Amino acid sequence: MIRGTSEARDRVPPVGRRTSPPPEALRGEIASVLIGPSRLRRRIAQMGARITADYSDKEVVVIALLNGTLVFLADLIRTMDFPFRIETLRVSSYSGGTPDSSPRIREDLPRRIRGRHVLVVDDILDTGRTLAAVTRRLRQARPASLRICVLLDKTIPRSVDIRPDYVGFRVPDVFVVGYGLDFAERHRNLPFVAELRADTH
Ligand code: IMP
Ligand code: MG
Repeated sequence: MIRGTSEARDRVPPVGRRTSPPPEALRGEIASVLIGPSRLRRRIAQMGARITADYSDKEVVVIALLNGTLVFLADLIRTMDFPFRIETLRVSSYSGGTPDSSPRIREDLPRRIRGRHVLVVDDILDTGRTLAAVTRRLRQARPASLRICVLLDKTIPRSVDIRPDYVGFRVPDVFVVGYGLDFAERHRNLPFVAELRADTH
């Protein structure tokens, strides 16, 4: 077993709206910058330090949900100072699914995670349906432990019981893009997390 979750020991920074205006060229699409590059870097370093303290003597498999997690994953793993294996899962949006629908996972994944300590990494926790479905499937493979790490946690009432163990920031209930997150495949490459203009989506 591993110790109680770091979330309990950690105060997750809340992010307000309208933190700073977007660059001129993006004003048509982006309402405001919510989390800038240096704030992201500092917080992710804290998360990596906690994850390192919790996992350094374990056999760990990091499972990243693509594509939104790509940028976060690349930065997070460089703050994790212990050996681990990385697996990726492509999960499509669950907007039309029920909380009980199970995503298909790669056939060889259960064998790779059985008895290992699994850390599932995702970009943003919204309704929680995606992570609930994925973790339900992964638990069937009987990992030694399973924890969830998300960069962003939207402050919304949730019907799905999902409690992430490592959270970067709590964000307001707005549509966010940048730092890997997209709207119709756009804005993943922005180096900050931003609020999309409401009239854009
Ligand atoms: P959930 O199943 O509702 O928790 O949705 C999770 C997935 O939806 C995330 O991993 C994202 O890919 C996507 N998503 C939810 N909210 C946003 C957002 O504000 N911006 C971009 N993608 C989002
Ligand atoms: Mg996603």
